[in-house]
Amino acid sequence: MSDLPPNDLQIIPFEKLVAKTNGPVASPRVLAIANQKGGVGKTTTAINLGTALAAIGEQVLIVDLDPQGNASTGLGIERRARRTSTYDVMAGTAPLRDAVIPTSVPHLFIAPSTLDLSGLELEIGQQRDRAFRLRNALGNLNGGEQGFNFTYVLVDCPPSLNLITVNAMAAAHSILVPLQCEFFALEGLSQLLKTVDEVKKTLNPNLSIHGVVLTMYDSRNNLSNQVVADVRQFMGPKVYDTMIPRNVRISEAPSYGKPVLVYDLKCVGSEAYLRLATEIIQRERELKAS
Ligand SMILES: Nc1ncnc2c1ncn2[C@@H]1O[C@H](COP(=O)(O)OP(=O)(O)O)[C@@H](O)[C@H]1O
Ligand SMILES: [Mg+2]
Repeated sequence: MSDLPPNDLQIIPFEKLVAKTNGPVASPRVLAIANQKGGVGKTTTAINLGTALAAIGEQVLIVDLDPQGNASTGLGIERRARRTSTYDVMAGTAPLRDAVIPTSVPHLFIAPSTLDLSGLELEIGQQRDRAFRLRNALGNLNGGEQGFNFTYVLVDCPPSLNLITVNAMAAAHSILVPLQCEFFALEGLSQLLKTVDEVKKTLNPNLSIHGVVLTMYDSRNNLSNQVVADVRQFMGPKVYDTMIPRNVRISEAPSYGKPVLVYDLKCVGSEAYLRLATEIIQRERELKAS
């Protein structure tokens, strides 16, 4: 057994634990969608940003890392179709490729989750490579028998700063933070930023914050506008110009197992997610050019 304390992230130099990737196949951009608060729009953003990116020509994989499996359900993946899940991948018993299944949206795939994932921390918490399970799994995603050629991987994180979220941060190029336009929006953000900093120092030196997306915005609500002003002041240009409005079509779509872009392409929610995808790709281009 390992003599390491389970939650100390600082001990193992990351170079020693990261597996070599296979061959010259281009690797995807990995964005972790994280916020330890529940109900802020992480899963909704994973599904609909994923769909929007796929609609504009990207090859997208959503990795569902929440044991609740809302991203999987919201994309219409039935429980019995989840034969190989992200639990198997994180536990190290299956390669990520085996968990990947197509969705009804062209170019959009998902690695689904099951409730088993909630026991993961107990099982692998003592292993030396516990924080690099996802990173190592992603190294072998593209190419192979299936010939996957993903350009984006969106990781839907659970509402917690636990080992699963740390795996996502250790594997990601960048973090995307959904913030709900409500009174306590900024509460908890500094803790999230601290965790990102910690992961950057110890596990993933190249990690950055891609951006903050304001969700469930209601222009008629003064509080919403105040929150927007506060967040923009605190996070500056990291906040995307695009805000996701509160929109009933967005909340209805998952019960039909569809992204809102498929459920109602013309609604304001769909338009907003398409604009967000464009903005994210623009930001990616700027990052590459710099
Ligand atoms: N822009 C929006 N307008 C209306 N409802 C939304 C919007 N974004 C998310 N929701 C609803 O809010 C709830 C929480 O969203 P969800 O994406 O599941 O959050 P998280 O993954 O952060 O827990 C869900 O019921 C979802 O349908
Ligand atoms: Mg969620």
